[in-house]
Amino acid sequence: MSQIAEHPPTGRRSHSARETEQLGAELAAGLHGGDVVLVSGELGAGKTTFVRGACRALGVTVPVTSPTFTIGQRYPSAGGTAVGHLDLYRVGSLRDEDPDLLADYVGPDTITFVEWPDAAEAEIGALGRIARRVQLSHAGDDQRLVHVANQGR
Ligand SMILES: Nc1ncnc2c1ncn2[C@@H]1O[C@H](COP(=O)(O)OP(=O)(O)OP(=O)(O)O)[C@@H](O)[C@H]1O
Ligand SMILES: [Mg+2]
Repeated sequence: MSQIAEHPPTGRRSHSARETEQLGAELAAGLHGGDVVLVSGELGAGKTTFVRGACRALGVTVPVTSPTFTIGQRYPSAGGTAVGHLDLYRVGSLRDEDPDLLADYVGPDTITFVEWPDAAEAEIGALGRIARRVQLSHAGDDQRLVHVANQGR
């Protein structure tokens, strides 16, 4: 074998939305302020569901849904660390946007989850530390595969 990944992705199979929420909660336990979690996957793969579970574990009690009229939301959290949630599905590129747009959602005192991160990965990485990459995929019926890559610390 020519190369061994330092942090190989670990795959888990989820059988229900509830299980995916639990995987999100598990991941949340290892996060700190300034951490960013990129959450990728096809339409309906369970990204928001995963983020919801993570947010609950971080003390967010308000509903966690994909933002509709803005690119993101900030949730008040009983846990102390603010939680940001971005969904960049409709954002083709941030080049034409206000550079401060992301600063409301990503920063040293915030833990941030980003759905459809491809449009702004570099900009997000400049504001926070990309700590995990989560990849969700459909695996038949209510099953999903969830891969988490740890970016190291
Ligand atoms: N194992 C599972 N894990 C996650 N969601 C599941 C699972 N089984 C069924 N579902 C359902 O699939 C849907 C996933 O929706 P969700 O909004 O989380 O996906 P998404 O990846 O965020 O979609 P979008 O691309 O529109 O942002 C929900 O209705 C959820 O209840
Ligand atoms: Mg979503």
